[in-house]
Amino acid sequence: MSDVVAIKDQVEAAVQAALSKVLPAELAGTGPVVRRSDRADFQANGTLAVAKKAARSPRDIGADVAGRLAGLTAEVSGPGFLNITVPDDLVWSAVAARLADARLGLTTPRTGERVVVDYSAPNVAKEMHVGHLRSSVIGDALVRVLTHLGADVTRQNHIGDWGTQFGMLIQYLDEHPRVSWKGRGAETMSALDGLYKAARAEFEADPAFANRSRARVVALQAGDAATLGVWRDLVAESEKAFEVIYDRLGVLLDGGDFDGESRYNDALPDVVDELLRTGIATESDGAVVTFTDGVTGPEGEPVPLIVRKKDGGFGYAATDLATIRLRVDHYKADRILYVVDARQALHFRMVFDTARRAGWLPEAVQTQHVPFGTVLGTDGRPFKTRSGKTVRLADLLDDAEAAIRTVLEAKEHDFADAELDAVVHAAGIAAIKYADLSNTRTKDYVFDVDQMVATTGNTGVYLQYAHARVRSILRKADAAAVQGPMTAAGVIPVDVTLPAHPTEKALALILDAFDATLRDVALALEPHRLCGYLYDVATAFTRFYDACPVLKADDDAVRANRLALCDLTGQTLATGLDLLGIQAPERM
Ligand code: ARG
Repeated sequence: MSDVVAIKDQVEAAVQAALSKVLPAELAGTGPVVRRSDRADFQANGTLAVAKKAARSPRDIGADVAGRLAGLTAEVSGPGFLNITVPDDLVWSAVAARLADARLGLTTPRTGERVVVDYSAPNVAKEMHVGHLRSSVIGDALVRVLTHLGADVTRQNHIGDWGTQFGMLIQYLDEHPRVSWKGRGAETMSALDGLYKAARAEFEADPAFANRSRARVVALQAGDAATLGVWRDLVAESEKAFEVIYDRLGVLLDGGDFDGESRYNDALPDVVDELLRTGIATESDGAVVTFTDGVTGPEGEPVPLIVRKKDGGFGYAATDLATIRLRVDHYKADRILYVVDARQALHFRMVFDTARRAGWLPEAVQTQHVPFGTVLGTDGRPFKTRSGKTVRLADLLDDAEAAIRTVLEAKEHDFADAELDAVVHAAGIAAIKYADLSNTRTKDYVFDVDQMVATTGNTGVYLQYAHARVRSILRKADAAAVQGPMTAAGVIPVDVTLPAHPTEKALALILDAFDATLRDVALALEPHRLCGYLYDVATAFTRFYDACPVLKADDDAVRANRLALCDLTGQTLATGLDLLGIQAPERM
């Protein structure tokens, strides 16, 4: 546990304590709302709501509270707000305390919570598309933030590795033994994707092939050894190719996280039987379906969730119902998150409702669809290649890296080739991930490589630059040995008695909000809040650095305080970027 208390929390506690002295006992529990303000450091407005009940004017209560805020300066404003200014020593103490803490004063409010996060989930033998990119990047950021806040997180990559399409694919391979697709690493998916399209074309053109493919599905389901062998190969090779992409993207998912649809095969008959036995599912037109109250089509007709198809095959819904049982019973989840695009909202609503009614999802366990919007091209339509094809993820990454290489090479630098390559890679990935994460999750956004690699504005590359600039200042201070003696813990010493320049105070107060920001991100499951926060940190740092000389400060203590601010800024940026799954190179 960290014993660093955020300045904002200290202010809130002080206002609360004063309020409880001023108000009659029965109203004393009313919490004040404290937020950052342009007028002062903070504004508190807890008095408005209670004033009426206390039969006093809010301004009057405000003045009373202001007089009791030990150590803070407060002024009543407007209808009864309090404008609160915190003293400089409190600001410097907070900087020192965060810097001395290995976790920068971050708390672990989610300790003990078990969360399963279902994300990425591409399909075997099909090229990953930008929707899978979004799921991978957003899901990974949420996994990192929740873990950092203490939660026990299980990653689940629910890949599409089962279904009738495999009959067609395996039959095609059987009849075209010379088609090469194996062992191509990152290219495997493209080879398989091509194969898939060829098989689909033949399936549609040749009824005899279609029949042989259907027989192949039966063989696969019956566990025919040769058929299963090919299927296993297809899955294994696809998984390898996915892992290559995850590695390149810096996504945490690995081989241990695969939770393919096939894993649930054996459980599906039981899922359907139990739903039928309890009367939750009904037979309709030969299919087994469930209905959810309030879910209706355009004519007001109830919309079915199909758990077993007319032909006896199980649907996507049956598998998702089975995942819930496993996640509750085996992984002991308190919370299950599904990071899947917004178009599947209805599917999840009906799956969750069905699972709840079937008793597979206890009241205490929360399931949540975490939807996201569509990636658009610069033409405002869903992102496709010029010929209307799915854009290959690997190509996107190549494009971003090429664009950032041009930017970096145009600048003066003394990078050796290997370091340049590493920076290009880090910045290319940052460009793509940050562009995705910094947009409001549920909104569509336009994929625009040139904008993504911009070195100014709210981009990942800009933040990496800001971080590298801070690190460079600290390296220079080190080299010139100007930071003075370190504390026993190896931390830059802070003199809390020094006055704080307004830009120093502004930066310190933003750094102070890191913990609250992460808690917000975890609550709303919105990584863009962390992006916006880091951007604020970087711009506040620039304002501070423009106004306050650091290495050339004319007093040792002043310089040390400023270096401490630099250090805390650098560590905050690096930690924040890491929680977004973005690297923070030492030099850019
Ligand atoms: N494989 C699916 C697709 O590509 C996504 C699966 C999402 N996860 C889930 N549990 N349904 O659309």
